[in-house]
Amino acid sequence: MPAREIKPKIFSVGAIDCDRRLFDELIPLPDGTSYNAYLLKGTDKTALLDSVDPTKESELINNLKELNITKIDYVISHHAEQDHSGTIPKILELYPQAKVVTNQRCKEMLQDLLLITDNKFIEIKDRETISLGDKTLEFILAPWVHWPETMLTYLKEDRILFTCDLFGSHLATNGLCVADEPLVYRSAKRYYAEIMMPFRPNIRKHLEKIKDLPIEMIAPSHGHIHQNPSFIINAYQDWVSDSVKNEVIIPYVSMHGSTRKMVDYFTDALSKRNIIAKPFNLTETDIGELAMALVDAATIVIGSPTVLVGAHPAAVYATYLANTLKPKTKFASIIGSYGWGGKTAEQITGMLTNLKVEVIEPVIIKGHPKEADFKALDRLADDILRKHKDNRITPGK
Ligand code: FEO
Repeated sequence: MPAREIKPKIFSVGAIDCDRRLFDELIPLPDGTSYNAYLLKGTDKTALLDSVDPTKESELINNLKELNITKIDYVISHHAEQDHSGTIPKILELYPQAKVVTNQRCKEMLQDLLLITDNKFIEIKDRETISLGDKTLEFILAPWVHWPETMLTYLKEDRILFTCDLFGSHLATNGLCVADEPLVYRSAKRYYAEIMMPFRPNIRKHLEKIKDLPIEMIAPSHGHIHQNPSFIINAYQDWVSDSVKNEVIIPYVSMHGSTRKMVDYFTDALSKRNIIAKPFNLTETDIGELAMALVDAATIVIGSPTVLVGAHPAAVYATYLANTLKPKTKFASIIGSYGWGGKTAEQITGMLTNLKVEVIEPVIIKGHPKEADFKALDRLADDILRKHKDNRITPGK
């Protein structure tokens, strides 16, 4: 991606990565991603905000050459993860006078991960500023978006908030700024689900911290720049709130069709009660889609057959994932079929330690579902309807 000026003397110098299909060897990237870095040319000093993944080093270097950048004074590092920091050692080699400006925790992590020596750093604290001459950078510590060392930079004169991972999306595109809000909303929600959701309480505090800043632009390090900051801030306020939708997410797996028949019946039973049901067949589900569905659903019901004595490994994985991502889900249950016994329900509920959910009585049946089993599924659907109503989680909410 060529260098482009986004405001006078402020350039996008990062790279897009259309081919990357997995992040952290875990998160699917159906639309690739980008590693955004920004160059600020002040009247006195020049600053580079973050770098790019080491696989895209040449693109960043070429962009700096194209802009005839012969001196960089500061490399602002918001986050030590290598997709943003990995090219900093190369920058320090090419621009030996440059200092890495970051907080104490990020400094320690950069030393651990990239072996950058102590004398290369300028350490800053929350709300400290540095001047580039006509441009002032204010640093805002914002831990846990996505690691404990993360921070933001507010460029006062231009009213731009540089947020690194926060407010990002995994979307490889050469369009710099948001042009299609529904497309970006979906991508940003998926990104929030996969990366930010475990840190919901932290993000709430950060939103409070930035609420009085006059922000005209948000420039994250993945995906589009937001020229309409309220679009993404409002979306985050909704996602991190305690409000949930009248939805039941049903990640399931079925070996011989019995659990599948239960899921089909249960999905219809929920629909008849005006509750949106979203089944996900775990043998083919993109886990990013499942994570996104969990962002604001009121209830999760895991469908699993019993394998030997416990839940199917695919259901265990989905449960582990949900527990790790810590959605604001309020109710949980389990449905499934067994052959001769087992502890599937106990195993699944025992894994939900991070979720503040009320477990509704599961429906675990023997063999193929029969009349009484379908009645039990109706009972579960009724219980969910009652719980949703009692909590004012109703259609349209
Ligand atoms: Fe984009 Fe947490 O790195």
